[in-house]
Amino acid sequence: MARRRLDEYAASVQAPPQPDRNIALELIRVTEAAAIAGARWAGRGDKNAADGAAVDAMRFVLEAVAMDGIVVIGEGEKDEAPMLYNGECIGDGNPPLVDVAVDPIDGTTLTALGRKGALSVIALSERGTMFNPGPCVYMNKVAVGPRGRGAVDVNATATENLIELSRRLKKPVAELGVVILDRPRHDDLVAEVREAGARILLISDGDVAGAIATGWPNSGVDVLFGIGGTPEGVIAAAALKGLGGEIQGVLYPRDEAERALAEAQGYDLTRVLTTDDLVAGDNCFFSATAVTDGDFLRGVRFHDFGATTQSLVVRSRSGTVRTIETFHRHDKLQEFTTAGF
Ligand code: FBP
Repeated sequence: MARRRLDEYAASVQAPPQPDRNIALELIRVTEAAAIAGARWAGRGDKNAADGAAVDAMRFVLEAVAMDGIVVIGEGEKDEAPMLYNGECIGDGNPPLVDVAVDPIDGTTLTALGRKGALSVIALSERGTMFNPGPCVYMNKVAVGPRGRGAVDVNATATENLIELSRRLKKPVAELGVVILDRPRHDDLVAEVREAGARILLISDGDVAGAIATGWPNSGVDVLFGIGGTPEGVIAAAALKGLGGEIQGVLYPRDEAERALAEAQGYDLTRVLTTDDLVAGDNCFFSATAVTDGDFLRGVRFHDFGATTQSLVVRSRSGTVRTIETFHRHDKLQEFTTAGF
């Protein structure tokens, strides 16, 4: 009798879920390899060489990851990009079935000029959940961290967004930090934000890092505004999901030809793409390794021993955010790779 009661009790208590695989912890090797390879070109004035080295290294390590991946966001179309092109299958072919977005270096020009803020990034989500930007190169974006979630609207004016954000964050507009890509197309936006009285951090490139900064404690950045790459918007969505923030975007065709092509392919150019539209579901993974120094990660350091990297690894389901510093022994790396990292 006592035994039966014990069995009934055991059956009634739900076992806690077993920790499952966090594939982001494998993806860190991918961005580390790309960052090391790209960093060898830092300041050497050749952004294509930096990008090419990072692509080769990323591809080399990606092949070893146990997954059946399709590149939704890669280096472009097959004919122009021999590797990591959109639609390419990557991984070792085993489950899980996933969509993959890569940017071997977000900030190729930053790298070529030895400037701060270049990251190697990758995002993964379940098959069919990642937004495919098609021919749409640019998106008008607004991104905020966890406390600003729900306070912004990409179709509102910058002034309206700043006022609402100031209410939500309980700090005056004059203390808000705004990241904007330094481009002539943003002249009016910059003027409006200055008129509203907020502080602006103009960045020359790298709006994935800019979006992450909105969700990074004490970064001094509260919001990102402006038109930047659509692929970068999707990647930032994966990162912000895990960080608890939000991004919204509206596709922004560069000219009439791009508008016509996008419309012919069924893209609604007025639709507000939410974080969930960009990466649906709650099972995505993100890894970034700094190529050059940034606000929240130190860039690759080469030394006698080999190289040191700093990375950020994020999983949306658990909301775990890890920063990982790795020492790479030069002699060991050379034992198993000729990919140049
Ligand atoms: P790449 O390094 O991949 O060229 O991208 C850098 C970047 O600054 C992105 O972060 C940003 O989204 C995009 O370029 C902006 O595009 P543009 O330089 O054409 O304004």
